[in-house]
Amino acid sequence: MAQGKRGLFGTRLGVILASAGSAVGLGNIWRFPSEVGRHGGAAFILVYLCFVFLLAMPVMIAEFVIGRTSKANTVDAYRVLAPGKPWMITGCFGVLGGVLVLSFYSVVAGWTLRYTSDTLLLRMTSGQDFASVFSAFSSNPWKPLVYQLVFLLMTHLIVVRGVEAGIERFSKLMMPLLLVIIVVLVGCSLSMQGAKEGLSFLLKPDFSKVTPSVVLSAIGQAFFSLSVGMGCLITYASYFGRETRLVSSAFSVCVIDSVVAILSGFIIFPAVFSVAGVEPDAGPGLVYITLPYVFGNVFQGMPVVGYVFSGLFYVLLLLAALTSTISMHEIVTAFLSEKLRISRRGAAWIVTAVCFLLGAACSLSFGLWSGVKVMGMGFFDLFDFLVAKFIMPLGGIAIAVFVGWYMNRKLVLSQLTNEGSLRVRCLSLLLFLIRWVAPVGVAVVFLNELLS
Ligand code: ALA
Repeated sequence: MAQGKRGLFGTRLGVILASAGSAVGLGNIWRFPSEVGRHGGAAFILVYLCFVFLLAMPVMIAEFVIGRTSKANTVDAYRVLAPGKPWMITGCFGVLGGVLVLSFYSVVAGWTLRYTSDTLLLRMTSGQDFASVFSAFSSNPWKPLVYQLVFLLMTHLIVVRGVEAGIERFSKLMMPLLLVIIVVLVGCSLSMQGAKEGLSFLLKPDFSKVTPSVVLSAIGQAFFSLSVGMGCLITYASYFGRETRLVSSAFSVCVIDSVVAILSGFIIFPAVFSVAGVEPDAGPGLVYITLPYVFGNVFQGMPVVGYVFSGLFYVLLLLAALTSTISMHEIVTAFLSEKLRISRRGAAWIVTAVCFLLGAACSLSFGLWSGVKVMGMGFFDLFDFLVAKFIMPLGGIAIAVFVGWYMNRKLVLSQLTNEGSLRVRCLSLLLFLIRWVAPVGVAVVFLNELLS
């Protein structure tokens, strides 16, 4: 797509599935259950859901307003709506966030690709020591890079096809498949012997574990999971048509994303509690060390069921990762293509190459470069920290303030109501959330964490 000819999503379903695809990702299936496991089960889920609907959803709606009004990439959106003002710095941070997330995310997506192919090719056997397998693989200097590159190229191939033929078409294929796989896996998981214990772990709140730092983690997780605060959704909304309903689409995306996150817990914890001696709070290793072990043990004597279950699980993870990476790739590709006035294909190649190189640094931080630290962290942890704890919360505050306080109120209302043709329930409450609750809520938790 040459600069000047912008794409457009063709259908309402396409809008919802593409935005939900951006949201549903490793954050739901890999990060969410490991955060729940470490931070008090249902107590964390409750705090998380409050943040999703009170803080992240208003920011998502604000991003939709900015994107559809400006019809421009994340940086130019601010240039169009606030000419000559420094607001475009927010857009630049968004693009930086997209690059950083895509870089470290593609490392984990690469691991997922390897686990998917090993599972489908029957290379995962129950007798393996999965901790050593994972550590040997993730610290290898080149093997994870090959998988990461293949995954980035898959993302690249979808993005270069454009908005309707690439992003929308693949989201419409992948999201329903993903939802079907989740339902099948939840059914299997709930029939396991540890289902009761797993569900009670997931649903019983332990508020003693909800410290201020856990609260910031919940905000970071909500923003990360919904892909808000960076501008992915500003870019997607710039492809929305006039008839797209911004508020109900955002609500649908938040519901789909939260349901997928919680159902992922329904898949993982019953399985984990079905094997004696396995702890549910294994953190990020849960999916790559604990689960292969769990799958092997739960399905001892039923290897075919085990292969199908674990194969479906890793395919699910891979699809979820892909629907998200295309949105991160798209923020940067749209920006470069429109800024440098180059073809979409050329811009996409730059993004793929840069993210591969930065991702390689993240991958090497598990092995060869494990001694290289910036602010006490390896590159992988540093990128995750910068995005989830700084760029997304600060971006979220700036986006909410921009729409709530800076943009012309009539313009905002006209976007929210499709030029007065829609009756939006709770409009004043929504504006209150955008103007006050989202910026103040995120700022309080952010400052609290910073000062402590
Ligand atoms: N929203 C994406 C995820 O949850 C980044 O994985």
